[in-house]
Amino acid sequence: MEARLINWIIISLCAGCLALEVKPVTDPVISKVGDSVQLQIKPPGVLAAVIWSFSPANIPVVSWVGFNPSIAPGYVNRVTLNTATGSVELRSVSLSDAGVYAFQGLIELSGNAEHINGKVTLEVYEAIPNVNVKPSPAQTIANQVLKLTCQVLGSQIVPSRLWLKDDGPEQVSITGPDQAVLNSPVTFTCSAQSMPPCNYTWYFNETETAQGSQYKISSVSNADRGSYTCVAWNSVTGRNTSAVKEFTVTGEFIGFVGEYFL
Ligand SMILES: *[C@@H]1O[C@H](CO)[C@@H](O)[C@H](O)[C@H]1NC(C)=O
Ligand SMILES: *[C@@H]1O[C@H](CO)[C@@H](O)[C@H](O)[C@H]1NC(C)=O
Ligand SMILES: *[C@@H]1O[C@H](CO)[C@@H](O)[C@H](O)[C@H]1NC(C)=O
Repeated sequence: MEARLINWIIISLCAGCLALEVKPVTDPVISKVGDSVQLQIKPPGVLAAVIWSFSPANIPVVSWVGFNPSIAPGYVNRVTLNTATGSVELRSVSLSDAGVYAFQGLIELSGNAEHINGKVTLEVYEAIPNVNVKPSPAQTIANQVLKLTCQVLGSQIVPSRLWLKDDGPEQVSITGPDQAVLNSPVTFTCSAQSMPPCNYTWYFNETETAQGSQYKISSVSNADRGSYTCVAWNSVTGRNTSAVKEFTVTGEFIGFVGEYFL
């Protein structure tokens, strides 16, 4: 009742008006049955009211016009509205929750009231617990044909299967500058092709200095010149591959100040 009234207020306010389309942060949102999901939006102004509904039947989900959010029957105890952003958390997702969620609202933007709207698609999948790969013959023989079958036990219908093989790391590279001005910040990023994803270790002049794909120097000093090596390690294939970057530091800024005072 209340939700319908609010709906009516916003729709009538917006009769014939042009609403600003707000893109969701993630679209589509993908979830497993039973999980919690965030339908996130970032309106470009201060939110004053918002209504979420489940399309195409326009079933109310939650609405808010500055007081307590009104959660529609069927969503009580499993929907939370963030009244600052208008984002919705939906918990205990079921297959019947899959579909399009539409929102409309009012924001204050540079002193004016603006209407916003948009939509997010929620995709829901059932987790498949019993998957295994069956080799045939059971004992692998060198130089003989090996057949692998992806078996799904139980009655679930599986629309597609994706095969992945342990591989890499290959094509390891470091992106980032070859030189930088004294006191400036620098970030090196190491990337590689690897399945499963690899781990990265950084070495500066042969000494281990950090872990992770990024290496950041907040303020470059002369002691930072030298060679940076990124070792990409895939613990499954047991392989390490590395890339090296020679880095120099320039003192242009200091030089400029020197000249300036001459
Ligand atoms: C790192 O190696 C470079 C090149 O060999 C050298 O010029 C620099 O002084 C070294 N830096 C440190 C801190 O060892
Ligand atoms: C990366 O390192 C973590 C912790 O050391 C380890 O558990 C994981 O298996 C490693 N992953 C790969 C692909 O090597
Ligand atoms: C590969 O790198 C990892 C982590 O840096 C190290 O523990 C391992 O011994 C290295 N393996 C080889 C073969 O170099």
